[in-house]
Amino acid sequence: MTQPIKVKRHAYGAITELARLQREPRLLIEGPANTGKSSGILWWMETMAWNYPGIRILVLRQTMKSLRESILATLEDKVWAPIMQGRRHPAQHGTATRWNRSTYQYPNGSTIVIGGLEDPGWTYSMEYDIVLGFEAWEIARDSAERLFRANRNHVLCRYAPWNQKLAQHVEGQWLEPEWGRWHGVSKPEDLEDAPAEIQAARINGEPFGCWQQTIFDTNPGPKFHWLNQAAAPLDAGDATRIKEKGEPSRRVFRAPGAMFTRVLSRHGDNPACTPDDLAKLDMMTGSRYANLRLGLWESAEGQCWPSWDPTVHMLIGELERIGERDPGNPIDERAMTLRFRGERGKHLPEKVDIKWAFASMDFGHRNAGVLQVWLADYDDRIYRVVEIHRRQMLSDWWAARLEELFLEFNLYAVVADSADPEAIIKLNDLLTSRGRKGERIVRGVDKSLRRGNRTTFVPTKLDLVRDMLEPSQPGGPRMFWLHDAMREWPCPISTEKMTPRSSQEEIPGYVFKPHEEGQPDKEEPDKACPQDGCDATAYAAVFFWMMDPVGARTEPAIKPGSAASRLRHDLVNRKTTRL
Ligand SMILES: Nc1ncnc2c1ncn2[C@@H]1O[C@H](COP(=O)(O)OP(=O)(O)OP(=O)(O)O)[C@@H](O)[C@H]1O
Ligand SMILES: [Mg+2]
Repeated sequence: MTQPIKVKRHAYGAITELARLQREPRLLIEGPANTGKSSGILWWMETMAWNYPGIRILVLRQTMKSLRESILATLEDKVWAPIMQGRRHPAQHGTATRWNRSTYQYPNGSTIVIGGLEDPGWTYSMEYDIVLGFEAWEIARDSAERLFRANRNHVLCRYAPWNQKLAQHVEGQWLEPEWGRWHGVSKPEDLEDAPAEIQAARINGEPFGCWQQTIFDTNPGPKFHWLNQAAAPLDAGDATRIKEKGEPSRRVFRAPGAMFTRVLSRHGDNPACTPDDLAKLDMMTGSRYANLRLGLWESAEGQCWPSWDPTVHMLIGELERIGERDPGNPIDERAMTLRFRGERGKHLPEKVDIKWAFASMDFGHRNAGVLQVWLADYDDRIYRVVEIHRRQMLSDWWAARLEELFLEFNLYAVVADSADPEAIIKLNDLLTSRGRKGERIVRGVDKSLRRGNRTTFVPTKLDLVRDMLEPSQPGGPRMFWLHDAMREWPCPISTEKMTPRSSQEEIPGYVFKPHEEGQPDKEEPDKACPQDGCDATAYAAVFFWMMDPVGARTEPAIKPGSAASRLRHDLVNRKTTRL
């Protein structure tokens, strides 16, 4: 039989608290970037899996792909590799790899289940002793509550010291549903119907109690994020904090009625975090600096798009094509539908038909260049399904990416920054040799556009995105981002500089220019914040609005999949009113 593995690693700070906080049903481990939260929790998971045979642990992130890329990589490379010293970890049995594995099976019967919230059928269908949710700022409150309900496997309970007496009485029956009913009960009157041996165990002393736990890790985000509101407040008085040797703990916060006990993780807790790493974090600005360097829940002051919320505007979905692909046509012209998985806003159907596709692009060399593909449905909503966010790539490289996306999505147009006409001509030359001859596929965004009483383009473009994001409008928001949409990702230069690597990372820190004494406030973004993805997003909103001014939510005249749609009559019928 395989010997249990001794997990050698020194734990510090928040992670050492885990051992003392085992009876807390829900923990939120929060802290700035690179404090050792995720790897520490995985190390703790490893210890639990070996110590308590037969338990089931869920390791979860918002999407399976992001989980495999980040958390499973940390588990295999940073937690297991140092202990195994070149050997395979016994839980990595079989031929499956990190990319296709759905569980890790320990020789002692413990199981780690890999879960993403896009597959609730799989993730919620089982019950778990321990639920570990990583990067919890991405997780919506509803999903979190469903996870708490799945946290009830009741195998860990049999190891709980407070259940030992009971365990002797019901040895062998632990997994019976009958037993599960009784051990969570602590009031004597609720036990009246229980079998005699269970009653006897109760009478002998300790109350029965469940032992199960949900642990979330997160970087702090905007001040009003639901996690920050649901966790015990940081100003909870000393009396409500956990005391150790009579002293208030400096990092654990508990409050009656709070959904989470809050545990703070700090840079001093990670021996692998160097002064160099901290210097990079010091270069961040605005809310990113507050969240990722200082560890504060803070929203940026004067956000351009304050209603942006990843739990509302980011969706998990898959693109489906209808019919067989024509092998003679380099452009994939099949009709598309987007099928959403996991939770989504009540306004969104499970599946939407796509009316047309376009791309938006912000050129950049020292700053990031950003290319986004947007799909529009028949209800005036657009979805970002692909994004490339890279610095220091040459225009030929961008042209090649654009060509690939053009063939893949049959892009109707690409809207780019009109300040760089040469780049636009170059891209058009390349694309007109393909597909739709003579058509100007790449075009500059029309900066003469004004809407309402706006006198310049910049507030107009900001307004248009703000309108599309607004959650309270009839029909809900109209602009969405798909998870797992990044390609050619991550940009090594942005990673090194710790600047945003996607539009969704830029938006929370996209702020207006600070107020200048004696000057009226200008509706212009602060040049200091990274905004390349935000610009591409704004061009998309402007272009979409000019093509399809919002107002009439009518039934499509041309149904997707029909002959007329295959002949692309929808494009001919499109409203092209300019306002
Ligand atoms: N106690 C420790 N001993 C050795 N290495 C550690 C320790 N804690 C953290 N590290 C290393 O530091 C690096 C960052 O840790 P980790 O990814 O857990 O941080 P994090 O707080 O989750 O960061 P983020 O907020 O960016 O997700 C990892 O390579 C990890 O192996
Ligand atoms: Mg982490």
